[in-house]
Amino acid sequence: MTSQKNHKLCMVPGPVEFHEDVLSSMSTLAISHVSPSFIPVFGESIELLRKLFFTNKGQPFVISGSGTLGWDMVSSNLIEPGEDVLVLNSGYFGDSFTVCLETYGAKVTQVKAEIGDSPSLEAIKEALSTKKFKAITITHVDTSTGVLSDVKAISALVKQISPETLVIVDGVCSVGSEEIRVDEWGIDIVLTASQKAIGVPPGLCILIASERAIVIMNAYENRKAMYFATPPVQLIYALHTSLKQITSIPLEKRFQQHKDVSNHIKNSLEELGLKFVPKTREISANGMTAVYYPDGIKATDLLPKVAEHGVVIAGGLHKIIGPKYFRVGHMGISVTEPHRQHIEKTIEALRVNLKELGYKGAN
Ligand SMILES: Cc1ncc(COP(=O)(O)O)c(C=O)c1O
Repeated sequence: MTSQKNHKLCMVPGPVEFHEDVLSSMSTLAISHVSPSFIPVFGESIELLRKLFFTNKGQPFVISGSGTLGWDMVSSNLIEPGEDVLVLNSGYFGDSFTVCLETYGAKVTQVKAEIGDSPSLEAIKEALSTKKFKAITITHVDTSTGVLSDVKAISALVKQISPETLVIVDGVCSVGSEEIRVDEWGIDIVLTASQKAIGVPPGLCILIASERAIVIMNAYENRKAMYFATPPVQLIYALHTSLKQITSIPLEKRFQQHKDVSNHIKNSLEELGLKFVPKTREISANGMTAVYYPDGIKATDLLPKVAEHGVVIAGGLHKIIGPKYFRVGHMGISVTEPHRQHIEKTIEALRVNLKELGYKGAN
């Protein structure tokens, strides 16, 4: 159905490659957002989100926008000007969430990890003991570094030291590729976007709020129409198709598939002698890999050559080490449908082009 000639594989850490059925779900004819045929699709999508986030108590929201809108929703709705927020920072997206919170008047304290690391539980404990924070934010996977934070352990620590502090998770680069259990782990907000491991084109901000059941989403979930603003009907068809695919197998199996593929890529790159931004495998994301260029090779050498080979990967994003590394996304159908050979093609493109650039570690 796609008409793009010579499509290059999109192996950046989002947007990911989209399943044909997801894309064709968007080509519905114009349909009213309160149509009896659309309401069940929206309603079931909200129910399927509960499965993906392991939540009965939380209220899913599906809003036109991107992940950034989730930051705005949190900053404008939950935090009053002058209130204290603790931001756990493991890279670029911690910096940006901070800017958003401060724009709305929050007083932010940051616990910053070294590059390639996540804030330690000791450092978080110390910070939490200094004052009462209205909220703590955790970037589950910082897409600039590929560092994975232990949301379960951090949330347990918050419950122990400062139970009234809201636990807010930026899951833009984790939901769908990493386990996240809203009810069991006691998370108050998870925000994410459609274009990464959820496998739907950009345009949806998805947010789970623990406490209040909000009227509009409740109405659609109960198969009633209610106007609040025109929802992105065709994207919700796509979301419905993708969530059906995602939840058609146990989620534990999906997370394991992402872990296995992640290890395969990381092992293959390690065999080529390459080094990663995250300091250990334990704190490495399973849906992406951040890799240092070998000495003497830079972004402008490698990325265009890999693209000519038919695979698009991303450059570095971290403010300090940006030019020194590149990022590969491995989420969604690239992982769950190995017959597509996305992963092997990506590894091969890297191997061949590093060799052509004279990299000796690459055989
Ligand atoms: C961890 C993280 N948070 C927030 C965002 C912002 O999301 P969006 O680009 O969809 O607005 C991104 C984008 O890549 C991200 O990776």
